[in-house]
Amino acid sequence: VISSSACANIALVKYWGKREPSLNLPETGSLSLTLDALRTTTELELIDGPADEMLLDGVRQTGRALERVSSFLEVARAECTDPALRRARARVVSNNSFPSAAGLASSASGFAALAVAANAAYRLGRDRTALSALARRGSGSAARSIFGGYVRMNSGAQPDGSDAAAHPIEGIKLELSAAIVVGKAEEKAVSSTDGMEHTRKTSPFHEAWVRQVERDLVAAEEALASSAIMRLSEIVEANCLAMHADAMAARPGVIYFSPLTLWAIERVRELRSVGTPVMFTVDAGPHVVAFAPPAEIGWIGAALAAHPGVDRIILSHAGGPATIEEF
Ligand code: DP6
Repeated sequence: VISSSACANIALVKYWGKREPSLNLPETGSLSLTLDALRTTTELELIDGPADEMLLDGVRQTGRALERVSSFLEVARAECTDPALRRARARVVSNNSFPSAAGLASSASGFAALAVAANAAYRLGRDRTALSALARRGSGSAARSIFGGYVRMNSGAQPDGSDAAAHPIEGIKLELSAAIVVGKAEEKAVSSTDGMEHTRKTSPFHEAWVRQVERDLVAAEEALASSAIMRLSEIVEANCLAMHADAMAARPGVIYFSPLTLWAIERVRELRSVGTPVMFTVDAGPHVVAFAPPAEIGWIGAALAAHPGVDRIILSHAGGPATIEEF
């Protein structure tokens, strides 16, 4: 049994649109922070059986969820050179350290942990960059979860996707932690996979979004390099709102915000207007994620809990890379 672990990540500059859905190739780059508190641990065992099996948080996976894992494992098996190994199916047991039903970035940590485990089990010998490209086949954001800290994903130019991989951004002094606002009554949203493809196909704003992401990536990297947190906050929030504007402009529009989302966004803006170094972002769901320096995140998280719709606040520091725990 091979055991691996990976942390989820939250994007500061978002990935929202694929240039090639079959290989999960992104239209643009993206930039994220890996988060320690959102972790998936995975055990992979090669089995004799006819099909792959998957248990997530103790629940046997079937249908689309299992197919997604199985077609990912097929990618790994296709390049496995040992015929006996290549025939072996996998029993995958994954557990999230956070509520996966709440729609937090579980596909990022999940496929990063699975990529690392499959690389070992099927003896693929991929290096970290190639592992990132492999994780991308499971989920675009998973390519970033191979690495810890601040991570930059490249859109790549090769048709086979070999250069559509992430790398860590070294030498950043600015430390950020996260407070994630999880609401009580959160419905299952449109998945990011479906939401971004629908947006790309039908939103009249999508071309403008793609152009803006390239500018935001340059500006965000500059702000990070110079620890300019107030400047970074403006870029991160504008990029998040532009992604959601793009999704809302799809036909029919995709709305991920709940009343609690808007309340928490307002709170973060109020805090910053009086000089608090804090910024918000929102992925393809209703949760607001606030980023702030580690010393400030505790009281900011508490301030964001002051709404009756809040179920819990998850606090997290930056996380490390995906690893093999046992082999
Ligand atoms: C809004 O990586 O979940 O979180 O590649 O289809 O699996 P697939 O999509 P996914 O999309 C993430 C979208 C996002 C922004 C981001 O993480 O960059």
